[in-house]
Amino acid sequence: MTQNVQAVEAAIDSALKAIADASDLDQLKQVKIEHVGDKSEIAKASQSLGKMAPEERAEFGKVVGAAKGRVNAAYEARLIELERERDERVLVEERVDVTLPVKKVSAGGLHPLTVLTNEISDLFIGLGYRVAEGPEMESEWLNFDALNIPADHPARTMQDTFFVEPLSAKLVMRTHTSPVQIRTMLESQPPIYVICPGRTYRADELDATHTPVFSQVEGLVIDRGITMADLKGTLDHFAQAMFGPDVKTRLRPSFFPFTEPSAEVDFFFNGRWVEWGGCGMVNQKVLRAAGIDTDEFSGFAFGMGLERTLMVRHGITDMHDIVEGDIRFTQQFGMGA
Ligand code: FA5
Ligand code: MG
Repeated sequence: MTQNVQAVEAAIDSALKAIADASDLDQLKQVKIEHVGDKSEIAKASQSLGKMAPEERAEFGKVVGAAKGRVNAAYEARLIELERERDERVLVEERVDVTLPVKKVSAGGLHPLTVLTNEISDLFIGLGYRVAEGPEMESEWLNFDALNIPADHPARTMQDTFFVEPLSAKLVMRTHTSPVQIRTMLESQPPIYVICPGRTYRADELDATHTPVFSQVEGLVIDRGITMADLKGTLDHFAQAMFGPDVKTRLRPSFFPFTEPSAEVDFFFNGRWVEWGGCGMVNQKVLRAAGIDTDEFSGFAFGMGLERTLMVRHGITDMHDIVEGDIRFTQQFGMGA
């Protein structure tokens, strides 16, 4: 009996020491198997109770019960302690410093001219137009002759037009989007409702309001009974979509060889009139040259500068900002609608 009690006390001592020495949860798990579980000395002592005489069992049972209680309590306490240590360590090791600078991924942006072109195309598609395109390197015939621009017209000199070598090829960098009018009339039958946005070239110096490479948007309508009133109504709708519902437009008599009558269209913005582009009723000579019956059909055309539109709309004072391609400028406009 005394021997048994001593063995249990020894088992308690070694169990408590092992529990205290366990420095992490893995070690404690091992300690539990050896000193607390079914194969431990204390468990064996507990199992031996069955074979004891009743009075001996009662006395030794208390010893074993107390031993189990102490060892279990020590185990539970150490478990809680080691779990807390583990949690604290994990919090430190896996800490995220939300104040660290991050690598910025830039979302980029479309060039504002692209945004504007998309917006204008959407507007006119909504009115039943389709988008037409033509090449930027254009035949002299389509850029000038077919538009009734005579060979001696000042626009046809080297000062204004980029001619493409060899000159015998009779190719130019298109000076406006109007040749797309001719292409459209030659390719399709009226009624015609097209919008043609695109890049155009002129031997102009780059300054605050001019650039040698700029963009225009051409509109062409050929249908029965089209009048100047349709042109004015369309331009007003266009201007309002661009500059807001209160914008005023005016037509100033002007001259283009391919329209008759012709006008410059201006709009009133921030207290001043701004030239927006040219327009007019398509010259009957041009219609006939394109094989359109002028007894049945009439039409209007217009051509606006997109850089000018952008400058006025967004208060851009220098053309350089639009053409130089600085991404910081572009990003202010985002991806558009
Ligand atoms: C034309 O180019 C005609 N084709 C417009 C037209 C179309 C008339 C259809 C009748 C019927 P103009 O040369 O005025 O016209 O140019 C039209 C617009 O393009 C100008 O009002 C201006 O907004 C823009 N523009 C012209 N040159 C430059 C340039 N160097 N830089 C920026 N924008 C320019
Ligand atoms: Mg002009």
